[in-house]
Amino acid sequence: MRSPLPDYLTEVLRGCADSSGALADYIPELARADPDRFALTLVTAEGAVYSVGDDHTEFTIQSISKPFVYGLALQQRGFDAVLDVIDVEPSGEAFNEVSLERNTGRPLNPMINAGALAAHALVLDGRQPEASVEDIRSLLSSLAGRELTIDEKVASSELENSYRNVAIANLLRGYEVFEDDPDEIVEGYIRQCSVTVTTKDLAMMAATLAAGGVQPVTCEEIFSRDVVRQVLSVMATCGMYDAAGDWLSTVGIPAKSGVSGGIIGILPGQLGIAAYSPRLDDHGTSVQGVAAFGRLSRDMNLHLM
Ligand code: DON
Repeated sequence: MRSPLPDYLTEVLRGCADSSGALADYIPELARADPDRFALTLVTAEGAVYSVGDDHTEFTIQSISKPFVYGLALQQRGFDAVLDVIDVEPSGEAFNEVSLERNTGRPLNPMINAGALAAHALVLDGRQPEASVEDIRSLLSSLAGRELTIDEKVASSELENSYRNVAIANLLRGYEVFEDDPDEIVEGYIRQCSVTVTTKDLAMMAATLAAGGVQPVTCEEIFSRDVVRQVLSVMATCGMYDAAGDWLSTVGIPAKSGVSGGIIGILPGQLGIAAYSPRLDDHGTSVQGVAAFGRLSRDMNLHLM
């Protein structure tokens, strides 16, 4: 007989222990994380929480903010306005590459940095710089079901080393993908990435997508079903960057990784999953997190195909 879920999840953490990989260091503040932290949280579409390991450890959301900000842009601006500016094709390249459509400069998808900068500009919508950051912090808080804050130390550490994002944002401005000041878009995007979460927060956000846009505990309707379908589709095809095909064939659920070590995955209609462990592989994805998702997918038969 299978052991009760928390015992099983603890066994997953133990079975996936792996000291390979390295902390992100292009954002100096991220290199200060405790490399041995490992947490795993599952939240059902009805709001039941199963959580093991270092699930009180706070870390910055980084790229896991991207699907939610894309959803916010779709919700605020409508599908046509968003698709005009950001495509939905996998880039097959790393998250920080200049993956733009030829001639138009349209970012290939909203999961890579180029597309996320454009999505941030869509949410800003010509307002004062802080307006988009506050909309996003507030959205992520509603999804988590508690007030989230921004880690200013991580934000300024990334801002001081944001040469690639500044270059991409300037290129996007040159192509007139947006008309805002590129430095302001980079700063807003970096602060969006610096919202602080635990795996419980992330699993609750993932469970909201699993539940068709309704937060399972507060019952707030955050995204429409159409928006959720679009967000999950681009997560499935583009969420793991140049490892998206490998992930979809092995783990088989829409997912998103972040360079601080978080990963979320969604089993539509059923489950939100979040893992955290800060040592990363060559794609900028948590080594132990990938192992834990692989194990869960096999044991619990999560693969959608
Ligand atoms: O823009 C960056 O480089 C970071 N703020 C986020 C990158 C990230 O999380 C990539 N995902 N694995």
